[in-house]
Amino acid sequence: MSVGRRRLKWLGILMMVNFFIYVIVEVSKSSGQAKNSKRHVIIPQAKFWRKFVPHKAYWNKQQQKLERLSNPIFALLTNMTVEESFLSSNGSFSNACDPDPFVASQIKGFKDLPDRFKDFLHYLRCRNYSLLVDQPHKCKHKPFLLLAIKSLIPHFDRRQAIRQSWGKEIKSGDATIVRVFLLGQNSPEDNFPDLSDMLKFESETHQDILLWDYKDTFFNLTLKEVLFLKWVSNTCPGAQFIFKGDDDVFVNTHQILDYLKSLTKDKAKDLFIGDVIKDAGPHRDKTLKYYIPESIYEGSYPPYAGGGGFLYSGDLALRLANASDQVLLYPIDDVYTGMCLQKLGLAPEKHKGFKTFGIEEKHRDNICSYTNLMLVHSRQPQEIIKIWTNLQDPDLSC
Ligand SMILES: *[C@@H]1O[C@H](CO)[C@@H](O)[C@H](O)[C@H]1NC(C)=O
Ligand SMILES: *[C@@H]1O[C@H](CO)[C@@H](O)[C@H](O)[C@H]1NC(C)=O
Ligand SMILES: *[C@@H]1O[C@H](CO)[C@@H](O)[C@H](O)[C@H]1NC(C)=O
Ligand SMILES: *[C@@H]1O[C@H](CO)[C@@H](O)[C@H](O)[C@H]1NC(C)=O
Repeated sequence: MSVGRRRLKWLGILMMVNFFIYVIVEVSKSSGQAKNSKRHVIIPQAKFWRKFVPHKAYWNKQQQKLERLSNPIFALLTNMTVEESFLSSNGSFSNACDPDPFVASQIKGFKDLPDRFKDFLHYLRCRNYSLLVDQPHKCKHKPFLLLAIKSLIPHFDRRQAIRQSWGKEIKSGDATIVRVFLLGQNSPEDNFPDLSDMLKFESETHQDILLWDYKDTFFNLTLKEVLFLKWVSNTCPGAQFIFKGDDDVFVNTHQILDYLKSLTKDKAKDLFIGDVIKDAGPHRDKTLKYYIPESIYEGSYPPYAGGGGFLYSGDLALRLANASDQVLLYPIDDVYTGMCLQKLGLAPEKHKGFKTFGIEEKHRDNICSYTNLMLVHSRQPQEIIKIWTNLQDPDLSC
């Protein structure tokens, strides 16, 4: 009798303890959700119980390998950097910047791929190109906004239009804006005219050129991204915000400054906004600029912001620079940045002020179409100067 009653007492206590655990778990779960919903959409990096499914496409397969090697436990066991172990996993291929001698035999139909793919794949692992023209003092005074504009050497007029308009280096109140143009090489072996003297003159005059020693092609824009992120880490880690975009866009810098100044600290830290493309995947039409063969990439793309221009925090740039070590170069630069964000468990946020697909033709000449947007693609140098000049008109009323 008394044994039975004692048992009942214990059962009661056990049930109460269970109930408390349940309450605590539920409460912490819902407070966690509230915290997240205030911030960005958090995409889990990977389910930890995910089954290992080997990929068929080359890029995916190599990325999987890189992820296995990036595992901290592996590094502890072998005492090698990711780079070293990646290379040593195949004998004599010891310098990442020599053309990969194995890739041709690892992709079915390699010899029939367009040359740009062969080129890309041969140098997939090389990313330590040197900086030939630097601006080491650009960020001496921590900038509020760093403008980084992807350009090509011959685009002198586009760069000059940006300097004279939306890309002015200014100090407005306590907000400093600085500007750099991101360039690679146009090599004489490819019959490009030698513009190095003109570039040298330009760089000395304006001190806003960053030039790296790699071929500036469409597929190498990802290198431009990676090298730029490293440059930010090394030379401009104090930048509060970064705009990165093309040299044929109009940017309403006033609008961007107003927006940035209005941000809460919490929102500013993980900021990454632009014209976001979701649920996209590789194009399989061979005639397109964005064509990617099935043998190279399978699966969909993470959400990404169109490369015409996006805006993000300097804090995030430093994290992206780190994350980029764990993402194999991909031939399309804005998709690549989306992949790095995903590695960090983040996603870019769509902002309707980014008009990378332009605005309606009938509004094109109306200056009031430009007062509230942040970016519009694409505009000629003359248009850029004209829009900017008209926006400064103190009598402008929209
Ligand atoms: C190493 O190279 C050989 C070809 O020589 C290839 O068959 C093998 O798959 C490669 N191994 C790795 C891990 O890439
Ligand atoms: C990159 O570094 C490797 C050594 O790790 C070196 O052999 C190679 O020449 C470098 N490449 C470039 C383009 O600087
Ligand atoms: C990218 O640049 C490197 C270094 O100049 C070059 O070897 C490679 O062929 C380029 N890749 C493409 C796809 O143009
Ligand atoms: C990037 O990586 C380095 C070296 O692993 C580390 O010291 C640094 O804190 C990292 N930076 C960020 C912003 O995560």
